[in-house]
Amino acid sequence: GQLNGMDFNLSEEHLAVRDAARYFAQNELLPEVIERDNAQKFDPVLLKKMGELGFLGMMVSPEYNGSGMDTLSYVLAMEEISKIDASAGVIMSVNNSLVCWGIEKYGSQELKQKYLTKLATGEMIGAFCLSEPEAGSDATSQHTTAVDRGGYYLLNGTKNWITNGNTSNVCVVIAQTDPEKRHKGINAFLVEKGVEGFEVGKKEDKMGIRASDTHTLMFSDVKVPKENRIGDDGFGFKFAMNVLNGGRIGIAAQALGIAAGAFELSLKYSKERKTFGKPISDHQAIQFKLSEMATKIEAARLLVYKSARMKDEGKDYVQAAAMAKLFASDVAMWVTTEAVQVHGGYGYVKEYHVERHMRDAKITQIYEGTSEIQKLVIARELLK
Ligand code: CAA
Ligand code: FAD
Repeated sequence: GQLNGMDFNLSEEHLAVRDAARYFAQNELLPEVIERDNAQKFDPVLLKKMGELGFLGMMVSPEYNGSGMDTLSYVLAMEEISKIDASAGVIMSVNNSLVCWGIEKYGSQELKQKYLTKLATGEMIGAFCLSEPEAGSDATSQHTTAVDRGGYYLLNGTKNWITNGNTSNVCVVIAQTDPEKRHKGINAFLVEKGVEGFEVGKKEDKMGIRASDTHTLMFSDVKVPKENRIGDDGFGFKFAMNVLNGGRIGIAAQALGIAAGAFELSLKYSKERKTFGKPISDHQAIQFKLSEMATKIEAARLLVYKSARMKDEGKDYVQAAAMAKLFASDVAMWVTTEAVQVHGGYGYVKEYHVERHMRDAKITQIYEGTSEIQKLVIARELLK
């Protein structure tokens, strides 16, 4: 039978969320997923539906219009949605983990009322802006500056690789206020689109997650009201790292979903495709691929669910999140490559979906901290 994580003692509520996400993915996301990948555009109607179904503010308290669910529920939904459409997965992941969660946890009451209540329903979409042309892995070397001018901060600089860069209405922007204090002089701000000096730049033409928009964003003397700073002065880098710890669980779930989606297609195809007078699933070489795929996926699933459970239980999940992302992203890359192989020539064309899964898998080893950075994070936890 197929693996479904039933052994993880999922509650009725968890199963209901998983089923709702699966239903939405199969019925709403699947039909035009190839067209969206080709067009490099997500469908705003689908995004609106995701909001209405509560998928954009899953962990946000109902007090701020969220679904009030736990991290494990979020992971289950991310997995199901990414099985079909990893672009929808990343759009959802950024809004939930990097934007909503950070504002709810560290933002002022005023920011929560003004932005979180709308971000949680999809009325507003968020983006998270840490990376810069010269600060990716080396995230402390922020060149974007936010100079304190009393009532406001003056923001200048360039962010790149920003998911939801164009789609978003409000952006979490990380910037350097006091370079002498290095990472302890960094702040995080909420910056609205449309303010003077804030420009959406180049759109990236990507290998995978093509329906998700990735842009450069430019800030030129943008005035950011002081009340839009998240947390105390100098908290911005710690804010970004804390937010990313949870984000990495979301991306690990995305990777898990991509792998599981490719596996399900491979299992089905192997029973249908006949060579040498029998289904290819009767060839041991194919059976062994399926066995190894299923085993790796289940191992990834345990790490991902475990990291979510640890977060829900209030435990330190830094290492667990990094391990889950490191492992699940490698599994996604390996499984999707094998899935194309199981499909033979049909695997190499868009119609059979697995080539998209393979292209989509690669990004999970890169964003929200590359695999090398996850190893660095894990080693620091082990050695501290
Ligand atoms: N959790 C909490 N705090 C952390 C942390 C973590 N995982 N990792 C580092 N920190 C803290 C450190 O404790 C330290 O704080 P103190 O000085 O107060 O103790 C501070 O951050 C700086 O850390 P280091 O001294 O270790 O700095 P470093 O420069 O040697 O290493 C790094 C920092 C871990 C490499 C960090 O820069 C990093 O995580 N880089 C990767 C950046 C990243 O993940 N970017 C993702 C962008 S968002 C994105 O990609 C979204 C998307 O695609 C959809
Ligand atoms: P670099 O840091 O230049 O790394 C290059 C290589 O060197 C990598 O293999 C890396 O692992 C390795 N390396 C670097 N330092 C070390 C080290 N100390 N030890 C060992 N190896 C090392 N960022 C955002 O802020 N918000 C977003 O929404 C967002 N979305 C993204 C969407 C996409 C599609 C992409 C491609 C990127 C996105 N990013 C986003 C940026 C992403 O987080 C960075 O690309 C990533 O952190 C790596 O940074 P870099 O590209 O500068 O690579």
